Amino acid sequence: MSRHSAFSLAALALLLSACRPAADRPAAAALPTSADAHAAAPEARGEYLVRIAGCNDCHTPGYAEAQGRIDQADWLVGSPVGFNGPWGTTYASNLRLRMQQMDEAQWLEYSANLRTRPMMPDFGVRAMSEEDRRAIYRFVRSLGPAGQPAPEALPPGRTPPAPYFGLVLPAAPAAPQAPTAPSAPAPGG
Ligand code: HEC
Repeated sequence: MSRHSAFSLAALALLLSACRPAADRPAAAALPTSADAHAAAPEARGEYLVRIAGCNDCHTPGYAEAQGRIDQADWLVGSPVGFNGPWGTTYASNLRLRMQQMDEAQWLEYSANLRTRPMMPDFGVRAMSEEDRRAIYRFVRSLGPAGQPAPEALPPGRTPPAPYFGLVLPAAPAAPQAPTAPSAPAPGG
């Protein structure tokens, strides 16, 4: 048999196995789909949202480099890689510790009005439904506390220690607002 037809057979076998009913397939192999996540418990939905909304890209060290293959025990512990721009230098917070400081009601209030400095897409969190923000909270809390607080943010004009992303941008349109948290310590914690 030629290499070509051997390959085609393997591809066909894969295709056929993909067509088998879901019940036949090992559950561990499947990532949750959007439909699964809607039906799932809040923790599972939160895991799915964190995964697809990109929270790990910044809040989990090495996540993008590892193509997302980072153990959940190490998710969202904050990052030592700064974002340096006109706002100074910010560090993605340790959400595992941060969420321990708020009960669910406080998180829902805080996240609905989340205002941070760049590069945090706070507008994306504000746009989430309460159900989605609750699911994220339940998931992160289910992971428990871990890691150390992220480095403190630096004011504009200071060169941070490496590693950092240097962002060459036009001046910010308006002074960014500090996060408004119930009983919040400085962001970055
Ligand atoms: C592009 C990078 C980036 C992405 C993506 C990102 N964050 Fe952040 N996040 C940051 C940075 C940087 C900060 C710190 C901002 C500051 O110091 O003002 C932050 C801060 C926060 C804070 C405030 C923490 C505190 O100390 O009060 C929350 C909450 C948060 N992020 C949640 C999320 C969630 C949930 C997601 C996914 C939906 C997410 N972030 C995605 C970079 C990011």
